[in-house]
Amino acid sequence: MMENLIQKFLELYGNDGEYRTYFAPGRVNLIGEHTDYNGGHVFPCALTLGTYAVAKKREDRNLRFYSMNFDSLGVIESDLDDLIPHEKASWTNYPKGVMWAFEKRGYKLTHGLDILIYGDIPNGSGLSSSASLEVLTGLILKDMFGFDNISMIDIALIGQDSENNFNGMNCGIMDQFASAMGKKDHAIFLDTNTLNYELAPIELADAKIVITNSKVKHSLVSSAYNDRRNESEAALKKLQTVIDIKALGELTNEEFEAHKDVIEDEIQKKRAKHAVYENQRTIDAVAALRNNDLVRFGELMNASHESLRYDYEVSCEEIDILVDLAQAIPGVLGSRITGGGFGGCTVSIVKNDTVDTFKEEIGKAYAEKVGHEAEFYVVDIGNGAHRLN
Ligand code: GLA
Repeated sequence: MMENLIQKFLELYGNDGEYRTYFAPGRVNLIGEHTDYNGGHVFPCALTLGTYAVAKKREDRNLRFYSMNFDSLGVIESDLDDLIPHEKASWTNYPKGVMWAFEKRGYKLTHGLDILIYGDIPNGSGLSSSASLEVLTGLILKDMFGFDNISMIDIALIGQDSENNFNGMNCGIMDQFASAMGKKDHAIFLDTNTLNYELAPIELADAKIVITNSKVKHSLVSSAYNDRRNESEAALKKLQTVIDIKALGELTNEEFEAHKDVIEDEIQKKRAKHAVYENQRTIDAVAALRNNDLVRFGELMNASHESLRYDYEVSCEEIDILVDLAQAIPGVLGSRITGGGFGGCTVSIVKNDTVDTFKEEIGKAYAEKVGHEAEFYVVDIGNGAHRLN
């Protein structure tokens, strides 16, 4: 596949100069949803699906971008003196946002670039194609311009900054962190309050992690997401009038229960409850995994979904159908929505000998109920972003 990318790259940009190749993965989050901007824990892993790039430096300050996912858009041109978001710039607003965030931190980009990308993360699936593109761009800039003092965690933070302040989506750090810091066959237990993290081996002897793509993406995702974030922050402000905390993630369930009535708004109270309890569930789930207690891990995933459905209200009909179908199958240990919500994918832990039944039964019932097919991916956990050549 890389050969096709390189061939197209040389066709478009000529074969003078040194090109380099890179990859940055998408992610799936096992548990700990909508906790990352609330100072809680998350537990994502990097996928082997992701975004690939071929890139080389130019002599001038021009930027040329080409995506093999959007051939019809052709080469999109810009330059380093135009690092502001434009609607017509389409997907290139992501790499340009990262360039903007580098410059903002004082890292001078002295040359333009020719870039070609291709991604195999299904579009709109909520498996973080945009974060992978941001981290990919960060890695290209670090490597091509020799910014050796920028760490991969910095690249994740730069990606988040660009998404928040250039592309207007107020996401937390989880997706970029997973894409930058992932490790093959491990999930990342990340405390988003401190950015301390541990890699936990995922060796499921008799089970697989299965992603089911609902193939729906409801509109207004980013505005609904930003609303949730505002509601959580409003709840935090109320709690801060009676208790000394900086983030909801600092509270135990018991502390929350003792103080929750200071939040008068019922919606805000539900949002905060989710953030606090989900954080606790994530800590418990990682402990269960360490004890090889996959049954408990699955129960916590189910409880996570329940909370995201009723308290945080980021699920939707199609996703609930998938989760209800999955949870009803013996041999499914747990199933929940994953990612930002309002469509996208579920993640399930499925016993090896149930995977075929899982796909068949859910595939059939979902198509009957919803009118289009779901897609299934058995997860391979891959490495974080890296240079290929
Ligand atoms: C999106 C955001 C993440 C995180 C999840 C929900 O993927 O980009 O930062 O908030 O939603 O857990």
